[in-house]
Amino acid sequence: MNTFEQHESGVRSYCRSFPAVFKQAKGATLTAENGTEYLDFLAGAGSLNYGHNNPVLKQALLEYIEADGLTQGLDMYSSAKEYFIDRFHKTILKPRGFNDYVIQFTGPTGSNTVEAALKLARKVKGRKNIIAFTNGFHGCTAGALSCTANQHHRGGAGVSLNDVSRMPFDGYFGEKTNTIAMVDKLLSDPSSGIDKPAAVILETIQGEGGLNVASAQWLKDLRELCNRHDMLMIVDDIQAGCGRSGDFFSFEEAGIKPDIITLSKSISGYGLPMALTVFHKDLDVWTPGEHNGTFRGNNHAFVTAASAIDAYWTDNLFSNDIKAKGKLLRKRLSRIIDRFGPESLKLKGRCMMSGIECPSEQIAADIVKASYEKGLIIETCGNRDQIVKCFTPLTISNEELERGLSLLEQAFTDVIGRLEAAAAS
Ligand SMILES: Cc1ncc(COP(=O)(O)O)c(C=O)c1O
Repeated sequence: MNTFEQHESGVRSYCRSFPAVFKQAKGATLTAENGTEYLDFLAGAGSLNYGHNNPVLKQALLEYIEADGLTQGLDMYSSAKEYFIDRFHKTILKPRGFNDYVIQFTGPTGSNTVEAALKLARKVKGRKNIIAFTNGFHGCTAGALSCTANQHHRGGAGVSLNDVSRMPFDGYFGEKTNTIAMVDKLLSDPSSGIDKPAAVILETIQGEGGLNVASAQWLKDLRELCNRHDMLMIVDDIQAGCGRSGDFFSFEEAGIKPDIITLSKSISGYGLPMALTVFHKDLDVWTPGEHNGTFRGNNHAFVTAASAIDAYWTDNLFSNDIKAKGKLLRKRLSRIIDRFGPESLKLKGRCMMSGIECPSEQIAADIVKASYEKGLIIETCGNRDQIVKCFTPLTISNEELERGLSLLEQAFTDVIGRLEAAAAS
């Protein structure tokens, strides 16, 4: 047994799919101790949108450390935090019409910003109930987990997961069923059994739940529904935000304004822990320290986060590049589908958050395994883990993207080929 198997808890998961011991990482490449290189189509589960050890961010961090800049600052004022707030406000929030939104620094995980968003909504509205959607994933701490749909995660709670009403996401009952109309009917009927909610929480593109995309119209209708029923709209942009959909926020295409936005994963740009809850200043009813946490002041993360904004978001070049890469990715995935099963395989997701739905969890797992053996790190998602999900760094070169997709195509050739051979014999 290796050190990890002997001494680390059984809760470990990604390492089971990729059992190499990694030593170095650069851009979209991970290198194992034995020198084997892997193309990274997982990108730290979306926390490495700018690639591993991005040189621009690394330089800013090295200079900051060299000058003995603050590492941990609780929520005290620091120059690094001031610069980040300034850049985030001027470059991200203001141009997108969020001038009057404030930033809360929460504990540095996605789950913690979700906890803050839920607490804040409940406090503002004075109501307990929250609407969350089928296949939604919002984290594994108690409050966030009550909004997460997946039974595997919910099963670990050990307590009742209360005060959440589950509603069908866009397309859950097929294209013809208008799920907003369903929710509207339930909320309008005093005898539907649904307590009046403080807020709805949703991902516009469900990451863990299966790359299910809410249409722009559905999002607009949901925004309108929230206004009509006096509910706050929380968009959990932890996975779909920070450029993954082509825009900085995933909801920009729909032209909606959520009341509360949660960000984490790639907000620091460098894989450093950091999380933000962003909300309209009228909702700022917190008293000092009410949602407290020791690690709200990761100044190294503030340095790389500000550097990422300066390097990538002051004009449209990066955004246009992501959209072009998204097209290339989806074209190549469609080719795989056409080649190996237009009836049984399905293209999922949007832009650089895309993947292929396989007929079974086993096939998807076999493709992940075959990919790994060929030097490609790629994972699954979905309600039954049946979707092979491409989550590359957004800074990946076209050559690397094409190379990784060729490895994925070879993995499909092997796995589908084996299945066809077994069926023929
Ligand atoms: C949409 C979304 N929300 C919340 C979380 C939880 O974030 P964390 O794992 O950092 O707690 C995740 C993690 O995958 C996520 O994808």
